[in-house]
Amino acid sequence: MKILGIGTDIVECSRIAEMIDEHGEAFLRRIYTESEILYCHSHKRSTEHFAARWAAKEAIFKCLGLGWRGPLQWTDFEISHDEMGKPQVRVGGRSRDYLQSIHIQDIQISLSHCRTHATAMAIAIVEPNRHAPHV
Ligand SMILES: CC(C)(COP(=O)(O)OP(=O)(O)OC[C@H]1O[C@@H](n2cnc3c(N)ncnc32)[C@H](O)[C@@H]1OP(=O)(O)O)[C@@H](O)C(=O)NCCC(=O)NCCS
Repeated sequence: MKILGIGTDIVECSRIAEMIDEHGEAFLRRIYTESEILYCHSHKRSTEHFAARWAAKEAIFKCLGLGWRGPLQWTDFEISHDEMGKPQVRVGGRSRDYLQSIHIQDIQISLSHCRTHATAMAIAIVEPNRHAPHV
């Protein structure tokens, strides 16, 4: 297994709450998929879950070495869970093609959040025997 990169992010939950208050549905639709919105809204402290997904997507952009630049769309990366509750990343849209083109096999993430902050870490894993180009 070869790792292309790691990424981490931390965000204040109040910042996400402000963006939701200010931009409402337009903000949610730009950043989150339909099932992420449903998941977050199904929790009492939904802002924490929205903030954790914001941090996760920022961490993903960082582990790919792109930051804010590049062809990636926020909603191309959907955070779901396996049967044990472990978060996993589903990649769609043009980002899926892009990740294939640079031989990324998988992105692993971990999230944590409390009332004030949410944080995430992401690791981009390269296909066996492939060498990811520098992005
Ligand atoms: C997983 C666990 C360690 C999370 O720790 P926590 O301090 O409560 O919460 P944190 O803010 O640090 O982490 C929350 C995130 O952990 C992640 N998580 C949940 N289950 C996980 C698992 N099995 N493996 C890895 N990550 C997990 C999720 O991404 C969650 O955020 P999300 O719901 O927004 O996606 C804890 O919930 C646990 O031990 N769960 C197992 C027992 C259990 O599920 N009990 C259910 C009680 S109703």
